[in-house]
Amino acid sequence: MSKRSTPSRGGTSFNRRDFLKGSGATVAASAMAAGGVPTTAEAAIAQKQAVAGPTKVTLNVNGEDYEVTVEPRTSLLDVLRYDLNLTGCKDLEDVSVDGADTVIIDGKATYASTVLALQARGKEIRTVESLRDGGQVDEVVSCFVKHDAMQCGYCTPGFVAATRAFLDKNPDASLEEIQQGLGGNICRCGTYDGITRCALELTGKGGA
Ligand code: FES
Repeated sequence: MSKRSTPSRGGTSFNRRDFLKGSGATVAASAMAAGGVPTTAEAAIAQKQAVAGPTKVTLNVNGEDYEVTVEPRTSLLDVLRYDLNLTGCKDLEDVSVDGADTVIIDGKATYASTVLALQARGKEIRTVESLRDGGQVDEVVSCFVKHDAMQCGYCTPGFVAATRAFLDKNPDASLEEIQQGLGGNICRCGTYDGITRCALELTGKGGA
């Protein structure tokens, strides 16, 4: 893995909703083809893809370019945690359903486990680690502390990233919009009240 300083950008954008739509379309297409049984040609393509070798890619993470070697199946989450040692995004399950692996890609809160590393080329990736600058932390982080918006803390980095991405696009959001906007993240400890008060305070609409 090597690190360079010139960020690269471009490519199409995607989000968690796009992933779910795409998954549904793929399942539907597979089900329609030959009653769910792969044809010989489909099996050959799948096998060819399965043995495709490692590929070098450059990913722009937190303002820096990193060159890593990945397999086609490698998720962005795996690269962040195990190649770049950015462990703020959590690895709870193969495919995230709780948002603990949330990162910000081209400004959108995104489950890192649902994005292949190859898909993340040319995008601007931000992890929760980007929300500190030396001894200074982002206002979302300090507001979470102020409102005691955590218990075990497992979901917290994902919620902080999701809150930052949401407020960047919706600085004047209402309570209902905040609740809907952060609906892709789950807290098993039930700290929603503190998280909501934090976000509301940052919109200037309350939370004290
Ligand atoms: Fe424990 Fe959210 S603080 S899961």
